Amino acid sequence: MLQAAQLRVVDEERVHVRPKCLRGRPRALLAFLLLSILASPAQQKTGPTASFDSARKVFRLDGANVTYAMGVNAHGELQSLYWGDRLAATDALPAPRIVSFADEMNDGPQEYSGWGGGTLDEPALKATFPDGNRDLVLHYASHAIDGDELRVTLRDISRDVYVTLKYRMDSATGVLARSAVIENRTADKLMLEQAEAANWNLPASTDYSLRYLAGRWGGEFQLQTQSIQPGSVVLESRRGSTGHQSSPWFAIARGPATETEGSVWFGALGWSGSWRITVGQDPMQQVRITGGFNPFDFGYQLKPGESLQTPVFYGGFSSTGFGGASRQMHRYELTNILPQAPHPPLRPVLYNSWEATKFDVDEKGQEQLAEKAASIGVERFVMDDGWFGQRKDDHAGLGDWYVNPEKFPHGLAPLIAQVHALGMDFGLWVEPEMVNPDSDLYRKHPDWVINFPGRPRSESRNQLILNLARPEVRAYVFGVLDQLLNENDISFLKWDLNRVWAEPGWPEVAPDEQKKLYVQYIDNYYSILQDLRKKHPRLEIESCSGGGGRVDLGVLHYVDEVWPSDNTDPFDRLSIQDGFTYAYTPSVMMAWVTDSPNWYNQRVTSLSYRFLSSMQGSLGIGANLNKWSAEDLAVAKEMIATYKSVRGVVQQGSLYRLVSPRGNSEMSATESVAEDKSTAVAFVFLHSQQMRYPARRVFLEGLDRNAIYKIRPIYGHLLDHEPTAASGAYWMGNGLSVILNGDYDAAGFIFERVARP
Ligand code: GLA
Repeated sequence: MLQAAQLRVVDEERVHVRPKCLRGRPRALLAFLLLSILASPAQQKTGPTASFDSARKVFRLDGANVTYAMGVNAHGELQSLYWGDRLAATDALPAPRIVSFADEMNDGPQEYSGWGGGTLDEPALKATFPDGNRDLVLHYASHAIDGDELRVTLRDISRDVYVTLKYRMDSATGVLARSAVIENRTADKLMLEQAEAANWNLPASTDYSLRYLAGRWGGEFQLQTQSIQPGSVVLESRRGSTGHQSSPWFAIARGPATETEGSVWFGALGWSGSWRITVGQDPMQQVRITGGFNPFDFGYQLKPGESLQTPVFYGGFSSTGFGGASRQMHRYELTNILPQAPHPPLRPVLYNSWEATKFDVDEKGQEQLAEKAASIGVERFVMDDGWFGQRKDDHAGLGDWYVNPEKFPHGLAPLIAQVHALGMDFGLWVEPEMVNPDSDLYRKHPDWVINFPGRPRSESRNQLILNLARPEVRAYVFGVLDQLLNENDISFLKWDLNRVWAEPGWPEVAPDEQKKLYVQYIDNYYSILQDLRKKHPRLEIESCSGGGGRVDLGVLHYVDEVWPSDNTDPFDRLSIQDGFTYAYTPSVMMAWVTDSPNWYNQRVTSLSYRFLSSMQGSLGIGANLNKWSAEDLAVAKEMIATYKSVRGVVQQGSLYRLVSPRGNSEMSATESVAEDKSTAVAFVFLHSQQMRYPARRVFLEGLDRNAIYKIRPIYGHLLDHEPTAASGAYWMGNGLSVILNGDYDAAGFIFERVARP
């Protein structure tokens, strides 16, 4: 990721703001003059989504229903001008203004502000030069439009520090990808202390509210709402990884937005290391969101000629409330983020051994489970923790990625052959960034872990973290995984990370290079994933981190699915899954059906309830199938077959959160609609019935109002008088009455279009 600032200077233009920039560049000047003549006064369309009005010095990006605009003011500052509903092509945006520091009130809405020149708000970039100077004032220098990428280069007013802002607007969703490349072209090194991906400025207003996702282990993705007041709200991870406590995503509504109505701005950061998003309202009621590397303990030295690429910050706008916002995000993730985008394959139904066998895996036991799994229609069999090194429990073995000879005397080959013979592919759990002190690897390389010499090394789950930033550690981790994949026919890795950072030292490099760990570690993590995929093109990967601790748009470039939580209770999962879908597509949301009572909270639920809850995402089975009765297995077989018939709709269709599981609601419901509106799938859950009130009617959304849809139950019944076929208008306007009783009851229905108007 770093050193990525090879700017291909295509169509590069320079605006006549600071004539000094143009001196000694006659070709650029000629191009500038030509462009001014051609472009003035109307907007010149130079790319599919990006355009530049050279007369007004305004950049504009249009995609789907969204317009984003910024401009250069007379001082050379690049200011945000507009972000929201798509404007008419003829709309002239207000010229960027001059904001005087003398006001001591606020800054102008800068696109990417350096800390210096009187900046008062959260800056995007902060640096210290070797002479102690810490003043950085970024002014427009040049820009280039290359296909649908716009690059605007800023330069400090006196030093050769360049920042190239990259913008790529997706024409289908209006999601804008922003990032920055910071380049040191001075003759000296400099230290970056804060490097954000972007500042986003919202139209000034006082009735904004913020939604974000907070949580903890076993309780991830809990949606929070609060009004935005003067001051700042900080969402962050300082833990070296994305974290369970907060997800790098935000949504901001103006006024009373709902699932279906209102203006909502949203964004998500593509970074799996320590990150931060700050939402601040300044004294002039300007709301600004800033996000990127977490500046806490940050220090990235740039030697002359070096550069740093920030993470990408994705942002979008919806005028159809939170539902519209998440559907845009889901579509964008499917078509732009996932490794197999724009056409990611449907997720197979998998089985995972963890809750069934924990560390007690062996050839015979796994084969027995595989037979049962295959008999109910599972397509991928995944063996979890316990198969390697001297792994009997969580005290030993991490780091030693050889097959345990007592548990698997003939290696993994016989088990894999059996899994294949049963018609499934084979997946394996790994936790390659970790080492137990009780391992051959640690005994050989105790210095390979992140640590501060002479200080205790804090263990968590009896493990330490390998310093993946070190080239030899990166080579080792890639090597063992590559060998494992070369020697065994493995289609899927569940890549886990079961602890957060402590004592983040990298003593092998010079003191002023040590904090590069925060960036280099994650860059190497990504590059291992990428190189493994390149070398093993059939490989799919799941990101897990003690549940949902590593879910973000950075890792989703390299993995096909994620594990949202170790909490597999199907009722708790409803709110975890609800929160998850605000930011992330259900396609990547792995959800296992496990045993009842649930291991996490002892809640007892029916098999059908568990299936319907898991069917909201990518269905998996994580139960001890040896304990299931013939009847359970028959129900499972039917449920899995039905799920397969609609998984395209659930995983890649449009999601409508019909009734929220949050708050005091007795029930919740979701619906997924196929892109062509031919099929819809609805899941309805009764949490606890009181006074025997009937479950409330559920009103569908997103159907073709004039077409006729036939209803088919996955499980459950409608009240007697309900029709079995009706128009989209009927199901949306009149709704359906589902029979649900008592606690933890659930039903699911498929709507199939049988006739078009
Ligand atoms: C983590 C994961 C679980 C399981 C265990 C194995 O907790 O989240 O699903 O893989 O590790 O040790």
